[in-house]
Amino acid sequence: MAKSTKTIDNSEIYRQIGLCGTIREKLQIDEKSLLAMVDTYGCQQNEADSEKIRGYLAEMGFGFTQDEFAADIIVVNTCAVREHAEMRVLGNVGALNHTKKAKPGQIICVCGCMVQQEHMARKIKMSYPIVDLVFGPHELWRFPELLLEVIERHKRIFATEKDDGAVAEGIPLRRDGKVKAWLSIMYGCNNFCSYCIVPYVRGRERSRQPEDIVREAERLVAEGYKDITLLGQNVNSYGKDLDRGVDFADLLRMINGIPGDFLIRFMTSHPKDATEKLFKTMAECEKCARHLHLPVQSGNDRILKVMNRNYDSATYIKKLELARSYMPDLVVTTDIIVGFPGETDEEFRDTLRLCEKVRFDAMFTFIYSKRVGTPAANMPDPYSREEKQAHFDALTETANRISGEKHREYEGKTVRVLVDGETGREGYNLSSRTNGGRLVHLKGDTSLIGQFINVRITASNTWALYGELENG
Ligand code: 5AD
Ligand code: SF4
Repeated sequence: MAKSTKTIDNSEIYRQIGLCGTIREKLQIDEKSLLAMVDTYGCQQNEADSEKIRGYLAEMGFGFTQDEFAADIIVVNTCAVREHAEMRVLGNVGALNHTKKAKPGQIICVCGCMVQQEHMARKIKMSYPIVDLVFGPHELWRFPELLLEVIERHKRIFATEKDDGAVAEGIPLRRDGKVKAWLSIMYGCNNFCSYCIVPYVRGRERSRQPEDIVREAERLVAEGYKDITLLGQNVNSYGKDLDRGVDFADLLRMINGIPGDFLIRFMTSHPKDATEKLFKTMAECEKCARHLHLPVQSGNDRILKVMNRNYDSATYIKKLELARSYMPDLVVTTDIIVGFPGETDEEFRDTLRLCEKVRFDAMFTFIYSKRVGTPAANMPDPYSREEKQAHFDALTETANRISGEKHREYEGKTVRVLVDGETGREGYNLSSRTNGGRLVHLKGDTSLIGQFINVRITASNTWALYGELENG
């Protein structure tokens, strides 16, 4: 049983599913006679949450649309990690004034991390009267109950109480694709990196029971999914809140034991919790992709310390060397923040030096964004936006050059890829991924989607590889 993790009783979820039926009757929905649109911002965890929202909406009988003028209900699932995402959300929610005017019965819901912040919930309440329902990530499991209240009482509902969060099993899911699937293994974060809002809006780390995860993975494999990404803010601390003696490496091994031809991916890993046991397990599990996304955030030890990351650059590099000693073909990607409060030019140069040393296959780079309520928001931040932008540009240039060089090494080689969709372009109409997660464009029949095939890489650039079917 869980040591500290609160679980939502199954009967509660059954009740919510029952309420979906009540909503269907109240709105007189006759098999997709009403349409829903779910708009998702931010990370993969949010994508996974939106699949639950769609699951509930499908249970209510809604069909789905991407057209906000056609939608009878719109759910905007928001992100709070950076200001830019919040601005986009507010702009797009504001624009829904037009759709609601054209369709007065339209129900508008805003959920997710952004509205879990008190000041943002208040802003929506005061300045966006078109919004009917606001709920934070902790209330997602009771979306049907909240929506029913809006429908029955004709009033605006705000459900964004502070909460450490819980684990709810059995929420219906509606996944988008047929090839790749997200599988949440845990929620929340305990790390409190000084710049990050996530621990404040997503609550404490809560792991799902290993049996529930394995059962879901088995179902995905049986349904034909070929690429399963295990999700958590910090998957390496999986199981620490459970008294089960199962850590993340053990979980990987359990999922690897499911028969079938599929790939296991995971994100995100915190360097401080990435262990030799994890690398050894990855190397021994043939279904585990040779890809490690290990956010370093900075290459400077003073900055890492004030970021509260709990490792230094030498430890990070040593861990990667260890990982590469087990998996020489490992693809390594990272996240980096430039312009953290007080970061000097020389401190930034340490980040560039680390990147040259590690040679990441891909880097996700961000300019620091001040988040209300985090410790970094109160730190002196003397450098101008222009100075930060110059550092960002230098880092992007380095990242692009290294990615391009790494991609060129694939040219002439044959690699196994999973074809996962169409590009919409004629020359290279299919998209696929290598075991390590690199994007490969191909020309071929759409019947290949969902299949593992061998391709010869003929060209590359910073962002992608281009290949031809072997024997094709
Ligand atoms: N400003 C800029 N980037 C941030 N990230 C998290 N918080 C912030 C912030 N306040 C970045 C980190 C993290 C990624 C998901 O987003 O690099 O790894
Ligand atoms: Fe944010 Fe750090 Fe937690 Fe990642 S590990 S979600 S950066 S607090």
